[in-house]
Amino acid sequence: MTTDTVTLTGLRAVYGSGSRRVTALDGVTTSFASGTFTAVMGPSGSGKSTLLHCAAGLDRPVAGTVTVDGIRLGDLGEDELTRLRRDRIGFVFQAFNLISSLTAAQNVELPLRLAGRRPADRDVTAGLAAVGLADRAGHRPSELSGGEQQRVAIARALVTRPAVVFADEPTGALDSAASRQVLRLLRALVDEHGQTVVMVTHDPAAAAYADRVLLLSDGRLADELTGPFTAASVAARIADAIPEPSC
Ligand SMILES: Nc1ncnc2c1ncn2[C@@H]1O[C@H](COP(=O)(O)OP(=O)(O)OP(=O)(O)O)[C@@H](O)[C@H]1O
Ligand SMILES: [Mg+2]
Repeated sequence: MTTDTVTLTGLRAVYGSGSRRVTALDGVTTSFASGTFTAVMGPSGSGKSTLLHCAAGLDRPVAGTVTVDGIRLGDLGEDELTRLRRDRIGFVFQAFNLISSLTAAQNVELPLRLAGRRPADRDVTAGLAAVGLADRAGHRPSELSGGEQQRVAIARALVTRPAVVFADEPTGALDSAASRQVLRLLRALVDEHGQTVVMVTHDPAAAAYADRVLLLSDGRLADELTGPFTAASVAARIADAIPEPSC
């Protein structure tokens, strides 16, 4: 039986107030079944990052509910929420968020240390090797390219083997070879380990690795496609669902 790892119901998110008020999510209801790979697409500003942040308990929505593994995040206090995020959720930020004073290996092992677990060298090494960075373990973020920093951030999100991995444009700074490596890795989490992956991307070729594509437009779900797809079929459906603005 398929169960839903993450359920979102009537999610509304608002930033700012008065004339600067922006409704980033305007009533989104969907769910992410366990052991599935979902791509979230849509124009810049359509609410993709906000959706991921709310689903991962990093932002609190103004209305609606988020449930992770049957637990309603809105019912949790800050400490309980932090513990749930640490134990069950991996997050790859759009802006990497690496700690600049730590090496690549220390960044990767940080979630284990924060959880009070003693990181095994081989887990950290294997995590870096899985993203093609075995030889960069001792480098600090300032000594790594943008794409390499992104891959360290991915290794860090996976090291605790979380039930659900949210990745915000994880291939945005990567060339096509490194992108393929990361997308195959995310696919393998789902196929081989039954983890749940939710990935924001602008790239139809990346979305084609997913089982399902959600299209956001102006904070609302505009369309939902189910795979299997190709890059061309995803691109064609997006063009139909969200016409290019004429300018
Ligand atoms: N911290 C913030 N303060 C005010 N407004 C914000 C903030 N973060 C996001 N927004 C606004 O909320 C809307 C949704 O932003 P979000 O970052 O979710 O978009 P996105 O779909 O991830 O875009 P992109 O593809 O450019 O990353 C945008 O209009 C944005 O300007
Ligand atoms: Mg974003």
